[in-house]
Amino acid sequence: MSHEMAGEASPIPLLTPYSLGKFNLSHRVVMAPLTRQRSYKNVPQPHAILYYSQRATKGGLLITEATGVSNTSLGYYPDTPGIWTEEQVEAWKPIVDAVHEKGALFFCQIWHVGRVSTPDYQPNGQAPVSSTDKSLKPARRTTGNEMEVFTPPRRLKADEIPQIVNDFRVAARNAMKAGFDGIEIHGAHGYLLEQFMKDEVNDRTDKYGGSLENRCRFPLEVVEAIADEIGADKVGIRLSPFSDYMEAQDSNPEALGLYMAESLNKYGILYCHMVEPRMRRDVQKVECSESLVPMRKAFKGNFIVAGGFNREEGNKAISKKDADLVAYGRWFLANPDLPMRFELDAPLNKYNRETFYVSDPVLGYTDYPFLKSTA
Ligand SMILES: Cc1cc2nc3c(=O)[nH]c(=O)nc-3n(C[C@H](O)[C@H](O)[C@H](O)COP(=O)(O)O)c2cc1C
Repeated sequence: MSHEMAGEASPIPLLTPYSLGKFNLSHRVVMAPLTRQRSYKNVPQPHAILYYSQRATKGGLLITEATGVSNTSLGYYPDTPGIWTEEQVEAWKPIVDAVHEKGALFFCQIWHVGRVSTPDYQPNGQAPVSSTDKSLKPARRTTGNEMEVFTPPRRLKADEIPQIVNDFRVAARNAMKAGFDGIEIHGAHGYLLEQFMKDEVNDRTDKYGGSLENRCRFPLEVVEAIADEIGADKVGIRLSPFSDYMEAQDSNPEALGLYMAESLNKYGILYCHMVEPRMRRDVQKVECSESLVPMRKAFKGNFIVAGGFNREEGNKAISKKDADLVAYGRWFLANPDLPMRFELDAPLNKYNRETFYVSDPVLGYTDYPFLKSTA
């Protein structure tokens, strides 16, 4: 994707280079984290080598699907990968190597689902853990029409929280062992860290509940522990203060987003990745007047936006300096050569929701076609 030839039109904003801390990116089209449920028994599989390397470009940034930090961290989504065992770390290595061979950077998104789980996913059939003991309402499974009936979580005691912080720290260390360039903390979409941040869920009265400062304490402890462990220059975090996913809403999302953006400045982490307010409940856009611009201004590091972007809107976000990078989810899922298609303004493959989460190692995964000229 070189634009150095004399007379060539200047690149679109999305395809301009960017220095993400010490990493030199050749374009701004980031692959968003996408759960695909093809990591059987929570171990990354060889078919992920092709999937991720298809989407890797020289100087591009990819973020993995959400990856569990411990044996209590998973639920609801079968066959999501983890990074707490030696076997999982070893299984990630060839995937990371293949992405690096293409010249791309690769960050591992690490998560803990908290109450979005059931005893079926937990060691010894124990209750999942959360900030609260309030259960989620039943929800339709990602595959098929069956309902997942959630069971009440167990409210973590304050003195158990350091252990979970440590699980995140060890997972980050493991990600570096697997060869990743850095990690993204999953602090979005109603999972454990949001179950603490958001006041619809967090009903605690200890130092982890009540004020914004208290609700954000645990996520910030995770940030600090990971930054100490692997270096702040390799740490990003994803936040979705405005989302109402998994019954996790906040009564003042703007204040929450600003508080996190400002607090993160203390740790000097590499990036903050925020989901647009219009992505409220699932991946359908809604009309809204809120914006991430105040958080963008408050956060001193690199800022990634995601949620409902097309080529034109991504270009606009970059040229208005509302974001440094734009992450694409569904379009990247369905278009392995998305940066190239944006460069050529080529038509995009449509994505097929029916195969987002099917277990098949090829179908809806590595069989989306490349542009003819590059196939
Ligand atoms: C199939 C699928 C899986 C997803 N998995 C994750 C995930 O593991 N972690 C995460 O933070 N977001 C996840 N998301 C949200 C996306 O990263 C992204 O924010 C969302 O799709 C909106 O962006 P888009 O309009 O570009 O698709 C997922 C979305 C989809 C469609």
